[in-house]
Amino acid sequence: MTNTKTVSIKVPWSPPLFEEADLESAIQVIRSCWMTQGKQTAAFEEETAALCGSKYAVAVCNGTAALMAALLACEIGPGDEVLVPTMTFIATVNSVIAVGAKPILVDCDPRTLNVTPELLQSKLTPKTKAILFVDVYGMPCDIDGIAAFAKKHNLRLIEDGAQAIGAGYKGKPVGSFGHLTIISFHMAKLVPTVEGGCILTDDENLAVRMKQIRNHGMAGQYQFVAFGLNLRITDIQSAMGRSQLKKLAKMLELRQALVDQYQDGLKGLVEFQHVPDYVTTHPHMIFSVFLKDRAQRDRVNAYVKEHGVDTRICWTPTHLQPYHKTLLADQGAFPNAEKLGERGLSLPLGNALTPEEVAYAVRITKEALAS
Ligand SMILES: Cc1ncc(COP(=O)(O)O)c(C=O)c1O
Repeated sequence: MTNTKTVSIKVPWSPPLFEEADLESAIQVIRSCWMTQGKQTAAFEEETAALCGSKYAVAVCNGTAALMAALLACEIGPGDEVLVPTMTFIATVNSVIAVGAKPILVDCDPRTLNVTPELLQSKLTPKTKAILFVDVYGMPCDIDGIAAFAKKHNLRLIEDGAQAIGAGYKGKPVGSFGHLTIISFHMAKLVPTVEGGCILTDDENLAVRMKQIRNHGMAGQYQFVAFGLNLRITDIQSAMGRSQLKKLAKMLELRQALVDQYQDGLKGLVEFQHVPDYVTTHPHMIFSVFLKDRAQRDRVNAYVKEHGVDTRICWTPTHLQPYHKTLLADQGAFPNAEKLGERGLSLPLGNALTPEEVAYAVRITKEALAS
């Protein structure tokens, strides 16, 4: 028999905030008896597009589906290479594999965790068809630099902004730059619909195509003009999303205040993600601290968990994942991503987290560092 000890969680890792109005919005849809994609979804799309500064939003069942719909709409498939960061949540890379294209992994900047035009350039080949860049923890990449690089080499540009709703780059919202941007509405995100996602674009043709793709490629009634799948969101989720969207500005402020509190408390003891000047709003979907090395990270992690502070270790880069290291072997070295993956620890942060909970997490993390 194994000797397992249950520790009760005092500070949850990413608590969502579902209030009475959010629940009521869902109940009204259930009472209406129209629960699949309908009027609520159309309104959610309109409101999301307006908030993010894009012409169109296409809502789907999750962020991974949004990535696949974007890649399919851009006609990316077998024979194509797509530049993707190795330092990401695995959905980014898996969506490329799912459409039959080849992910070409790119290292990240050691301070921002994001890819740069220079790093992308180092992996460019004649087969490169697209760039799928990720705003890590929601923090925008150097969008102008990457867009200029994409334009120069005639590449499709897709932004994995799964974590980036509400983010600002040079004073403008992520999603307002014309290329395709995907968002996730997963439970832990700033605008949660439990599961959900969308693609933002200014291109009407792509928007129409993605609406077909999310519905088996259907154009008219039972007329299937393209490959697609059932990637639809429900009206129950869309109604909750509409209700949550109203809180986004407040959630951005709250998260920034909680991150300030963490950074004041842990200053000089750990490192933080570097925020370049072009980032005008960081949504802080995740808050990581970077320790000296893996041994210190694992020691601190064990101690804080033992004291009820829930955490996640930083993403292990894609090229080190058991499945992907064989599939994507021999793609070169990724020293920055590897070091960050070993040293990173994500502390609690969520829409329902309180300053008292952060104060406790800071105190316990300091104890762990001193022990
Ligand atoms: C960077 C990134 N891309 C894609 C996704 C996939 O989103 P979803 O979980 O909604 O499918 C996530 C989810 O956390 C993510 O963090």
